[in-house]
Amino acid sequence: MGNNMIAYFNGQFVSKEDVKISPDDRGFLFADGVYEVIRSYGGRLFKVDDHLSRLSRSLGELRMAPVSLAHLKTVANQVIQRNNLENEDATLYIQITRGVAPRKHPFPDIETSPTVYVSASVLPPSHGEWEKGIAVILVPDLRWGRCDIKSVGLLPNVLASQQAKERGAGEAVFVRDGVITEGSHTSFCAVFEGQLVTHPANHHILAGITRRVVLDLCVTLGIPFRESPIPERNLTGASELMVLGTTSEIVPVVRVNDWMVGDGKPGPISAKLKRAFGDLVAA
Ligand SMILES: Cc1ncc(COP(=O)(O)O)c(C=O)c1O
Repeated sequence: MGNNMIAYFNGQFVSKEDVKISPDDRGFLFADGVYEVIRSYGGRLFKVDDHLSRLSRSLGELRMAPVSLAHLKTVANQVIQRNNLENEDATLYIQITRGVAPRKHPFPDIETSPTVYVSASVLPPSHGEWEKGIAVILVPDLRWGRCDIKSVGLLPNVLASQQAKERGAGEAVFVRDGVITEGSHTSFCAVFEGQLVTHPANHHILAGITRRVVLDLCVTLGIPFRESPIPERNLTGASELMVLGTTSEIVPVVRVNDWMVGDGKPGPISAKLKRAFGDLVAA
């Protein structure tokens, strides 16, 4: 698999290798596009409507033409089926750009069709991130002021993630004005005296779908929580830290830069959430 994947590209299902992106595509030239990553558990797309409504919001914020979410959902399920992923754990990728037009910064003609691409990948098995937890590094948040838009302009995230990799860490976590915002591709939360704390869903973070699921699970499980900024200087006082995301689900953080979180093992609230998350996915 991987070589012979079927993708959807501008109205057609084609072999992924046959997808040809124009060099004049605004996604290629300007990162003028948005995307989503949706998890498929045994062929079922998890929280697909939430992902599609976030996609629709991202399009709207960038003043791109709306798309039919019902159609996109059908396409998404088709891509899973056509790649025989009904019994696999996989991720579905959707990208929409402002289309192909001569390279000029302002929006192209109103008739320019967006480029729409949907593909799927089999998820490799996890490598014990859950059992052992991961290390993270803290890096300055050099991103723009609209991190709530899921844009394909991910250069600061790429650089931060590479830095983490080079330092043997599993994720880079951004710090803006002394406050922890989120990871390069995950949401971030901390536990202080039994209360889970995560950055408010404003322009400085992506409103993570997994973050929302975790906050809803806190309600169900009776875990107190608060959406408020976490000052970097308070981080050492946390008993547990976690990163959250569609692909990684809930991953405990056991080391930050050179210090250990709690006793260096995944904590009880992380364990509780992880179990409840598993139940939700199975349901
Ligand atoms: C910057 C950023 N924050 C948070 C997340 C987690 O969001 P979700 O749970 O919707 O996957 C992602 C996922 O890609 C991300 O890129």
